[in-house]
Amino acid sequence: MVGLPARGKTYIAKKLTRYLNWIGINTRVFNVGEYRRRATLQYRTHDFFRADNKEAMEIREKCARDALEDVCEWLDGGGEVAVFDATNTTRSRRQLIYEFLTVNHSYKTFFVESVCTDARIIEANIKEVKVTSPDYTGVNKDDAVRDFKIRIQHYAEFYEPLDEEHDKDYSFIRIYNQGEKFLVNRVQGHVQSRVVYYLMNIHVLPRTIYVVRHGESDMNRMGRIGGDGDLSKRGDQFASALAKYVADEKLENLRVWTSLLKRTIQTTVGIDAPKEHWKALNEIDAGVCEGMTYAEIQSKFPEEFALRDADKYHYRYPGGESYQDLVARLEPVIMELERQENVMVVCHQAVARCLLAYFADKDHVELPYLNVPLHTVVKLTPVAYGCLVEYISLHVECVDTFRPRPQVAKRKRSSKPGRRALMVDPHTVYSSVPADGLSNGDSERHSSSPVESLTNGSAVAS
Ligand code: ATP
Ligand code: F6P
Repeated sequence: MVGLPARGKTYIAKKLTRYLNWIGINTRVFNVGEYRRRATLQYRTHDFFRADNKEAMEIREKCARDALEDVCEWLDGGGEVAVFDATNTTRSRRQLIYEFLTVNHSYKTFFVESVCTDARIIEANIKEVKVTSPDYTGVNKDDAVRDFKIRIQHYAEFYEPLDEEHDKDYSFIRIYNQGEKFLVNRVQGHVQSRVVYYLMNIHVLPRTIYVVRHGESDMNRMGRIGGDGDLSKRGDQFASALAKYVADEKLENLRVWTSLLKRTIQTTVGIDAPKEHWKALNEIDAGVCEGMTYAEIQSKFPEEFALRDADKYHYRYPGGESYQDLVARLEPVIMELERQENVMVVCHQAVARCLLAYFADKDHVELPYLNVPLHTVVKLTPVAYGCLVEYISLHVECVDTFRPRPQVAKRKRSSKPGRRALMVDPHTVYSSVPADGLSNGDSERHSSSPVESLTNGSAVAS
């Protein structure tokens, strides 16, 4: 990252990292500010950032080098992308990074610079995230804003932006005023082009995204998966409740997206908003298991059933899809969601899990077990570096289709080469109604998990 303070570097770093991890590229942020806070006592004033403060300068240099060493160690250990989140505002610092990572260690370096000349944006950024930073614990808000502005001036004195001519050999993107325009130079390879495409599609306008499953269907009532069934009577009631909910929210320019399956289209009939239907939003294809109950799959295809329990994210139904396939299919949906403002996505259990994993930063192990109940609106509102996740039940009765992660399991060698089976207790019968309501099925509860904090009604994912 490159840019003066309060230019959105940390915001971009975190968001990009969440996206790259979601599409399967192992990515981690290294925030030099955190190294600095660990290396010093409580921050006092902007004086720490003066260029003539020799002692502080040495600490800052050391923190940057320590973080770079950690970047290398992490990449050497199998990490794929490291986001080095610091100001990196001088040519000498960028040269150090390039020499260390690219010349000495053969990693590609790609600079992402955020340039912002709009004083209102900078003021808003300082008020949104800087006054609540650990640097200003216990400091009055106005004093914090004043101090932060002087801190920016210390950097501005020596700022050397990336330059089309001087830096023509570097790979980089310059983002002007939150995406007003871009300069892209020497993009190398697949990952860099994905990064550029993503950064050119995101925006920071306030908006709300809703993720909702279709109303209860006849198939849900029978505990059968997949298919293209109609809504049940209670599903129709939910459709009416949802239309009322949307009307009460009074959102401007709301767009409603559904899959091509009848149950999502029927769920949105009463909503007064433009609708689009995406094939990419169709439910996971269960292949030969379409239309069966979990108990039928377990008795007819016990090995397949056990394989899915062993690695639900990567398991692909014979003739169907895996969650990993689904994420790849949903990538254009996420990209379009990033471009849009208020959107309600009416979809399916597995699809909703993939979308929520992106917004709530959930990994491949948790993703297939996120609990997204029927007849519940999941409301996502961007805040600071993440988004607020709220679960709003519309109080229309329905079945529970959640099948928790199996608890009793022993690893056993599979008969098929290259596939490892997890043998489940053959006496365990799986029903489509989970015993423990809203949890994600783990035997242990993780209180930090936003989606799991359903019982509290809301959580912030960053
Ligand atoms: P510092 O150098 O102090 O760490 P920073 O550059 O990392 O500062 P952030 O902490 O990321 O700044 O600032 C967050 C704010 O930046 C958010 O309010 C977010 O809306 C805003 N923001 C996001 N993208 C951009 C952008 N491209 N330009 C300017 N601001 C942005
Ligand atoms: O049961 C409803 C449903 O949407 C099925 O159509 C789909 O196969 C299933 O949920 C996905 O959930 P899981 O991956 O937990 O089986």
